[in-house]
Amino acid sequence: MAVSAGIAAYKVPELVRALVREGHAVRCVLTPNATRFVSPLVLETLTGHPAGHQLFAGQAAVPSEIDHIALADWADLCVVAPATADLLARLRAGMADDLVSATLLATRAPLLVAPAMNVNMWEHPATRENLEVLVGRGVRTVGPESGELACGWEGQGRMSEPAEIAAAVALALGSEAMRGETVLVTAGGTREPIDTVRAIANRSSGRMGFAVAAEAARRGARVVLVAGSTSLPTPPGVERIDVGSALEMRDAVLAALPDATVVVKAAAVADFRPASPQEHKIKKETLPEGESLHLELVPNPDILAELCRLTRESGAQRVIVGFAAESHDVVAAACRKIARKGCDLLVANDVSRSDAGFDVDTNAVHFVSPDGEVEELPLLSKQEVAVQLLDRVAKLRDGHR
Ligand code: CTP
Repeated sequence: MAVSAGIAAYKVPELVRALVREGHAVRCVLTPNATRFVSPLVLETLTGHPAGHQLFAGQAAVPSEIDHIALADWADLCVVAPATADLLARLRAGMADDLVSATLLATRAPLLVAPAMNVNMWEHPATRENLEVLVGRGVRTVGPESGELACGWEGQGRMSEPAEIAAAVALALGSEAMRGETVLVTAGGTREPIDTVRAIANRSSGRMGFAVAAEAARRGARVVLVAGSTSLPTPPGVERIDVGSALEMRDAVLAALPDATVVVKAAAVADFRPASPQEHKIKKETLPEGESLHLELVPNPDILAELCRLTRESGAQRVIVGFAAESHDVVAAACRKIARKGCDLLVANDVSRSDAGFDVDTNAVHFVSPDGEVEELPLLSKQEVAVQLLDRVAKLRDGHR
C-alpha cells in the first residue's frame, strides 16, 4: 500500500484494517509528506511491519531497512491510496526519487490507484491525460467519488470509501470461484412513460442487484448488469447497460442471454405500462374542467418467465434466479410464484418490513426452491445476501456439471 499526501490519508488505517481482516498481508510505504496526514506508527501497528517513508536512511546513501526493490518484488498488488494529482503525474513520468515512486516503478505487480484531490485538479487536462496514459498501461482505478470535498468544494475528487477500495483490491487480485461464468443481473426499477415528462416508477433502489453484480465480479465472473432506474455507481469490473422501461429491459436481457450461464433478476419490473404514451406533455387545459384523467394500462411481458422458457427450450445449462417482492404470506406467495415462473431459485423479500426490501441496506429473505424447500435467512446486509445467494448458485451450477 502506497500512501501519498492527501487529506484522504486519514482513511488509510481503516482500509488497511479491512484488508488485514480479509486475510491479506499488507506493507505500507508513504511519501514524506503523507506522514503529516497519517502516522507511520499507526500503519506499522496495524500491519505488523515497518512503514517506511525514506528511500535512504540517515545522511549517507545507505539503503534503509526497507529496500524498495525487495518490497516491489514482494507485492502481488500495489494499491495507491490516496493517489494525489502529483503522484499520478510522477507515476506517469516514471519518477523514482522517493520510496513510494521508486517502489512503484520497480514493481511488476499490478497497480490499483484510488485518486483523491480537489475537483479542479481532478478535471485539469494534465490530470486527465496522466490518468489516461496510466490506464492505457494497465493501471486500475477505483473512484474518485463525487460529493463534499475536504477543501470546501463540491464535486468529483473524494477518495472512495475503504470498503469500496477493499472490494476493488479483491477484484484486482482475482478470485477464481466464478471464473469462466457470465452472470447477467438486472437491478433497479423500470419507468413506464406516460408522456414525455412523466412516468410510472417504483421504489426499487437497485441496491440488491448491484450487490449481486459486485459480488459476482469479485468472484471472477464476467458480469453484465442491466440497470433500470437507480443512482448507484457501477461496481468495479462490471459491464453496465442502462435501460428505462420494461420493454427496453426485455430487449437488453434477451440480447445478453445467449452468453449468460447465470441470470439473477433482481429488478422491480412494472407489470403494466400506459397503452399509448403521449409524444408531448399532457396539458391540464386540454382536459374538461374537473374531469379525471384515465390511463389505460396494458400488461408488460414477464421477462423472467420468458427467460426460463427460452432456457428450457434451448436446453442451455443456465441457472436462473428470480426475486419475489411480497407484502403478506411471503413464503406461500413465493412458492406459487416459482411454480409460475419456472426459475431454479426464488429469493423472497418481505417488502412490508422497514428493514428489508426497497431502499434500505438490509434484507430479510427466504430462498425458495422449485421442490418447495424453503430456507429462511436472518436479517443481513444486501452484500451478505449476495454472498449467500451466489453460494447457492455455485451449488446449482455444480449440479449442472
Ligand atoms: N419480473 C419480470 N418481468 C415482469 C415482472 C416481474 O421479469 N414483467 C421478474 C422480477 O424481476 C422478479 C420476479 O419476476 O425477479 C418477480 O417479480 P414480482 O414483482 O415479485 O412478481 P410479479 O411477477 O410481478 O407478480 P406480482 O406483482 O403479482 O407479485
